[in-house]
Amino acid sequence: MREKLTIHGGTPLKGTLEISGAKNSALPLLASSLLTEQRVHLTNVPDLKDVETMLSMVGELGKSTSGEAGEVSIAGKIDSNHAPADLVKKMRASFLVLAPLVARTGKAEVPIPGGCNIGTRPVDLHLKGLERLGVNIAQEDGKIVARADGLSGNDVFLNYPSVGATEQLIMAATMAKGETAIYNAAQEPEIRDLVNFLNQMGAEIRINGSIIRINGVEELDRTEYRVMSDRIAAGTYLIAGAATAGSVTVTGVDTSAVKPLSLKLKNAGITVREKDNSIKVASSERPENIEVITLPYPGFPTDLQAPITALLTLARGKSVVKETVFDSRFDHVPELNKMGADISMTNSNTLFVEGKTSLRGTEVEATDIRAGAALVIEGLAAEGKTTITGVKHLDRGYSNLVTNLRNLGAQLERHK
Ligand code: UD1
Repeated sequence: MREKLTIHGGTPLKGTLEISGAKNSALPLLASSLLTEQRVHLTNVPDLKDVETMLSMVGELGKSTSGEAGEVSIAGKIDSNHAPADLVKKMRASFLVLAPLVARTGKAEVPIPGGCNIGTRPVDLHLKGLERLGVNIAQEDGKIVARADGLSGNDVFLNYPSVGATEQLIMAATMAKGETAIYNAAQEPEIRDLVNFLNQMGAEIRINGSIIRINGVEELDRTEYRVMSDRIAAGTYLIAGAATAGSVTVTGVDTSAVKPLSLKLKNAGITVREKDNSIKVASSERPENIEVITLPYPGFPTDLQAPITALLTLARGKSVVKETVFDSRFDHVPELNKMGADISMTNSNTLFVEGKTSLRGTEVEATDIRAGAALVIEGLAAEGKTTITGVKHLDRGYSNLVTNLRNLGAQLERHK
């Protein structure tokens, strides 16, 4: 039987919520634990399916893993350089083990990744970049087979500032001989977290805007590191607060990392207050219509495109939402329309969102993590009962979702 989430909407969310560690930071940090045999101890690790998948992955590759309640220790030698297909199919970020495996063992076999169903997601930039560092890449039976007899630093230019390709190259270059410079590197806050983590282990990496310079080192030391907080989860709860005309404070966040969202919410007439490591939104009226365009950081994050679209279905007037990071990331649109939203799509990756005064609950299906988040927000804002299937997608990216929302006054339950 498929699990469901039932939401009884229409209650303004009110209260304060501590945000947990970032999925998109924890995953590359766990992958990069393969770069050393020494013990890596991570704290503030979110309790998520994707984190479990990455822990299984490093375990399958030979590492011993232990820990509970947001803490994880990883240590030991790599004893296999074949990434299991079932784990890579589950989650695209598993592909990040490619660089550490080839850097440490000279060979890696990693199936071509799966993950969220959000358009074509090639790995060409990862592979071309690794080739520049001396890795020989072949494709055999749906797998990437990478071989290297020692890596050597080089200049790499990314045609697009891919987050995953930048992370892959940082990990490889850390173990390469000599200096690497990555031009047009991704600048997402999670990249900085990976760099801080590796530098704490003895790597020599400097970020200068979109250029990242890395001096290769021979070994990395043991370390203890706290995963940065999840700016996308923080953004999702803030948007939910605004969509229900409530008042929600998120704490333990890096306010600068959430800025692209905070500024958009202010544009939409929502009160946003930042203080130290917390952000509060308060709203008692419908938002103003706005224009949103997703871009690499510090542009508006594609991971909040679906959630903010849910908010804009309630705006006064017509909003425009343009997705430029992924080819197709609009599976939430027909589902939001079932709930009374009025969203039309063009073939140029643009949505026109006509704001409505009210929405009504119905049965909808989540098809990826952030589409699921949009449906939860819409369900909280709508009148009546919303039933969401595809809950497993939400488990990949939102820890303690039901408890967190209940603590903010939402009425929802999860059932088989
Ligand atoms: C990461 C995030 C994901 C977020 C995305 C963009 C993790 C685990 N996931 O995904 O939540 O939505 O950044 O902020 O951190 N591309 C290529 N060739 C490549 C690599 C990427 O064409 O070799 C394209 C992709 O198809 C996509 C765009 O570049 O259209 C962005 O992808 P990328 O930045 O690599 O995202 P991910 O690292 O997969």
